[in-house]
Amino acid sequence: MVKKILITAIAGFLLQPGLSAASQGDEILKGKCAECHALSKPENLSRTRTSSRKGQDLYYAGSKYNREWLVKWLQSPTRIRPSGGYGEVTSKNLSNPSSLHLSLSSDEAEAVSQAMMNLKAPADVVVPGLYENNPENVTDGLSYYRNNGCLSCHQLAPDLGGKLAPELYTAGERMQPDYIASFIRHPKEFDPFVNMPNLYKSKEAVQKITEYLLHIPASKNVGKTP
Ligand code: HEC
Ligand code: HEC
Repeated sequence: MVKKILITAIAGFLLQPGLSAASQGDEILKGKCAECHALSKPENLSRTRTSSRKGQDLYYAGSKYNREWLVKWLQSPTRIRPSGGYGEVTSKNLSNPSSLHLSLSSDEAEAVSQAMMNLKAPADVVVPGLYENNPENVTDGLSYYRNNGCLSCHQLAPDLGGKLAPELYTAGERMQPDYIASFIRHPKEFDPFVNMPNLYKSKEAVQKITEYLLHIPASKNVGKTP
């Protein structure tokens, strides 16, 4: 509580006096981010809208990101989709991964992430409590992951896996467990045109893969041979 007030006070002082950090964050989101990221659910979802987006949808950001990760990433962004993400991909951009994304000052990043944490997904999209938190699941998670084809689109370690989709070796740092489990269970509930197949409905597989993704850095099994 004290920390929150302090952050609000500092951010408020350095940005615009009188406005709360969250509403200053909202202003920055509208002014600097909305041209590339949807901040509210588009009324008409379509294949064209999804394939021509300039950045990831952020209208469920508060149910997706770990706030600490967000505050850091917004100050020093790194590439998440190895193929170049959205928008223009050039060899220059790829060799300098942070060159594509604007970065924020620490006060701006605090304010923006506070505003982003208010953008929640409905409970049938990111299902609260879906992730069961059973550490025993870690051991089977890797084989579920490999056998379900995830590697063809996602990287499980730098240079291991497909390049089109977001890297997953940073999943636990980046994202909330219920979001990860919900996305694996029903990607098309987020957006029916998203390019991830809706194939992984088994409750067991969802739990095991999620647990594995949350523990990748501790796992010894991220080798190139299965
Ligand atoms: C010119 C377009 C553009 C603007 C403006 C922009 N972004 Fe992005 N953003 C992108 C692209 C492209 C990516 C994907 C990068 C990748 O995957 O490597 C991205 C990625 C992100 C991510 C990580 C998404 C993920 O994969 O989970 C966050 C968070 C984010 N942006 C927040 C912001 C915020 C906050 C602002 C405003 C302060 C902003 N962006 C402004 C284009 C933009
Ligand atoms: C055909 C390619 C493809 C396959 C196969 C695939 N995914 Fe995905 N996945 C994607 C794409 C593309 C996205 C990003 C969707 C978006 O733009 O919001 C994604 C997003 C995700 C996310 C959310 C990540 C984020 O940054 O928001 C998770 C978690 C995930 N996939 C896990 C898996 C797992 C686990 C498997 C295997 C069971 C798998 N995926 C198989 C393409 C794929």
